[in-house]
Amino acid sequence: MFSHSAIRSLAAPSSRLFSSSSARHFKVAVLGAGGGIGQPLSLLLKQDPLVTSLSLYDIRGAPGVAADVSHVDTASEVNGYTADSLDAALEGAEVVVIPAGVPRKPGMTRDDLFNTNASIVRDLAAAIGRVAPKASVCIISNPVNSTVPIVAATLEKAGVFDPKRLFGVTTLDVVRAARFLAGITGASPADSAVTVVGGHSGATIVPLLSQTSKGKGVQGQTYEALVNRIQFGGDEVVKAKDGAGSATLSMAYAGAKFTNAVLRGLNGEKGVVTPTFVKSPLFADQGVDFFSSNVELGVNGVEKIHPIGELSAEEQKLMEACLPELKKNIEKGKAFVA
Ligand code: NAD
Ligand code: LMR
Repeated sequence: MFSHSAIRSLAAPSSRLFSSSSARHFKVAVLGAGGGIGQPLSLLLKQDPLVTSLSLYDIRGAPGVAADVSHVDTASEVNGYTADSLDAALEGAEVVVIPAGVPRKPGMTRDDLFNTNASIVRDLAAAIGRVAPKASVCIISNPVNSTVPIVAATLEKAGVFDPKRLFGVTTLDVVRAARFLAGITGASPADSAVTVVGGHSGATIVPLLSQTSKGKGVQGQTYEALVNRIQFGGDEVVKAKDGAGSATLSMAYAGAKFTNAVLRGLNGEKGVVTPTFVKSPLFADQGVDFFSSNVELGVNGVEKIHPIGELSAEEQKLMEACLPELKKNIEKGKAFVA
C-alpha cells in the first residue's frame, strides 16, 4: 500500500507514489477503463488521495470494473458508465485519462495502430470538448506522437483547445529508463532518474543519460544497448506477451504516477516537474510543435516547458534521428482531423 508522503518529482519510488498534502480533491475520468491498462489504472487511481470521484467509462465492461474497484476502502466514490453514457461519465471531470484503443501485436509498430485508434481518440476528444472543455487530458492511446495532435486539433475545431491542459503520457519511458539504468549500475532506481525527451516510439524516444550522475558513466556498447532498450522497451513486452497485447501493468503504474503529478500541480504543489508530450515551442521552428521535455505542472496545467539542456555528441545524433520521424507522426495526426 502507498504511503502518503509528499513527492517532488516522478523520479520518486513507488512507496511514495502519492501525496495527500491536499486542500482540493478531484474528479477523474478514465476512458477505456475496462481494458488491460484501464483496470489496474483505475485501481491505482482509487488509491490516490487526491481523487475524490472516479468515473470509469468503456464501450464494454466499465460497470463491472467500477463495482469491483468501488469496494477498495479509500474515500473516493466510483461510478461505471456504459457505451451510451460517455457524456455522463465526463460531466464535471477535471482530469480525463485515455487508455482507450487497440494495443500492438508482435511485428506491429505503434503507427500500425493509427487506423483504429485515431478515430477512437478523435471521438472521445469531441465529447471532452463538448462536456468537459476545461479538463486536463492525459493521452495514453498509441501512437501517442499522433493521437495527441489529433486530440489538440479536435479540441481546436471545437474552439476549446488549451495547450496547457493536454498531455501525452510518456512516463513509461521515464520509468523504464530509471529501472534499466539501475539494472546496469546497481544503484537504486530512485536515484537513477533519467529525463527522456522527444516522443513515444522507437527513435523518437531520446534518453538524456549524460545529464544524470549515474547515466553519464555508461559508455560504449553498454550505452548503446541501454539506449536501444529504453527506445524499444515496449517491443520487449509485446514479444513476451506473444499476441496478448502490450504493456498494461507497468503502464498503469506509469499512468497513475503521471496523473498524480497532474493532480498535485492542479492542487497548487510547487516544483512538480516531469517529462510529458505537450504543444511545445522548443522545436516548432523545425515543424515539430509537439515535443516531450521536462514540464513544470501547476494549477493551470503546463506552467513551464524546460529546454532540453546540453546534449552529448551521441544524444545530438539521437535528436537528429528523432525530429524528422516525430514531425511525420505529428503531421499525420493533424492531417487526420483536417
Ligand atoms: P486493451 O485492448 O486491453 O484495452 C483497450 C480498451 O479500450 C478496451 O477495454 C476497449 O473496450 C476500450 N475501447 C475501445 N474503443 C473505445 C472507445 N471508443 N471508448 C472507450 N473505450 C474504448 O488495450 P490496452 O493494453 O489497455 O492498451 C490501450 C492503449 O494504450 C493502446 O493503444 C496501447 O498501444 C496504448 N499504450 C500506451 C502506452 C504509453 O506509454 N503511452 C503504454 C502501453 C499501451
Ligand atoms: C509501450 O511503450 O509499452 C507502449 O507504447 C505499448 C507498445 O505498443 O509498445
